[in-house]
Amino acid sequence: MHTQTLCEALQITYPVIQAPMLGVSTPEMTAAASNAGGLGSLPVGGLSPDAIATLLHNTRALTARPFGVNLFVHNIPEVDMASLEPMRQLIHRLAAERGYELTEADLQIPRLYTYKDQLEVLIREGVRLVSFTFGCPDDESIRLLKNHKVLLIGTATSLEEAVYLQEKGIDMVVAQGIEAGGHRGHFLHENVAGQSSLQALLEALRTAIHIPVIAAGGIRDTADAKQMVALGAAAVQLGTLFIPSVESQAIPAYKQLLSREQEKHSVLTTAFSGRWARGLSNAFITAIETSGIPVPPYPYQNALTAVLRKRAQAQNDAEFTSLWSGTEMPLAAATVTSAAIVERFGRALLASAIGN
Ligand SMILES: Cc1cc2nc3c(=O)[nH]c(=O)nc-3n(C[C@H](O)[C@H](O)[C@H](O)COP(=O)(O)O)c2cc1C
Repeated sequence: MHTQTLCEALQITYPVIQAPMLGVSTPEMTAAASNAGGLGSLPVGGLSPDAIATLLHNTRALTARPFGVNLFVHNIPEVDMASLEPMRQLIHRLAAERGYELTEADLQIPRLYTYKDQLEVLIREGVRLVSFTFGCPDDESIRLLKNHKVLLIGTATSLEEAVYLQEKGIDMVVAQGIEAGGHRGHFLHENVAGQSSLQALLEALRTAIHIPVIAAGGIRDTADAKQMVALGAAAVQLGTLFIPSVESQAIPAYKQLLSREQEKHSVLTTAFSGRWARGLSNAFITAIETSGIPVPPYPYQNALTAVLRKRAQAQNDAEFTSLWSGTEMPLAAATVTSAAIVERFGRALLASAIGN
């Protein structure tokens, strides 16, 4: 029943959401997922209003179907700029040892945008669906978005966070299990070690949460997806499975690492951004974590590593850029299309719904 309500509200055929993945998703991926009958997501966390407008135009040129625009809802903490110096020097040295010469300007903190800087362009562009992570917009922003008929989807990593979002009038909630690739969406508690598996989280949400729940984290195949729907999820949100797809902007080395059949493990780290995120371990993570130098908070560490990550990506260097990934990795070849993923999961979920 929840599935049907969700599909009607989002105007989609299949209860399958392509997870927003900043740095991996593209307008092509978003449009392909929506055109296939699922919901594509366009991540714009931390981007400037101009960059958002361009991404919206590029996506709308490829699809007339609905898609969600995904924001990072966080505040920027005050830090003493001098406290960033040891990390700045460490990144400079690690980069040089790897053959990347970074200038001073490459390690400056640029203008940082929060979701509040982004609301105006979303409203001007007539965006009707916004998902978010890392927090909950303040009351004024929720009111503004609702006045413009924007449907809101939040992210929760605990029952407490889901209840918080529900009480704030958020329309749907992504339940993000500890298996999920990329950044953790927590905002009421910092302790990642205490965060639940997707299954435990869905069980906890089942009686207390009345808004539709979207399951995210470690869903690898259609059997997993059906299990999450049986546990009360109205839809599934898949991230890592889309990383090797043809529409993904992941570098070839990242795609290969994910789709190769060999033992690999993801780790939780703050090394790249200052926020906890799950990805494959590599030389950069090891160097930061063994340095003994405190990692500045998000988004400062994210800004300090931004140019280095770009330079490493340009060299197809998987050791010095983030390789976000959930606990379950795809085994598919890098020729899989985003549409094929949506259709495979969508058909399986609809068939089981009819079967019930
Ligand atoms: C490469 C990557 C980037 C991500 N970026 C975002 C993002 O920009 N916004 C967001 O809400 N979630 C982001 N996530 C988390 C996903 O929305 C989702 O919770 C997760 O991918 C689900 O787990 P799975 O990867 O095991 O399928 C990202 C995940 C990955 C793998």
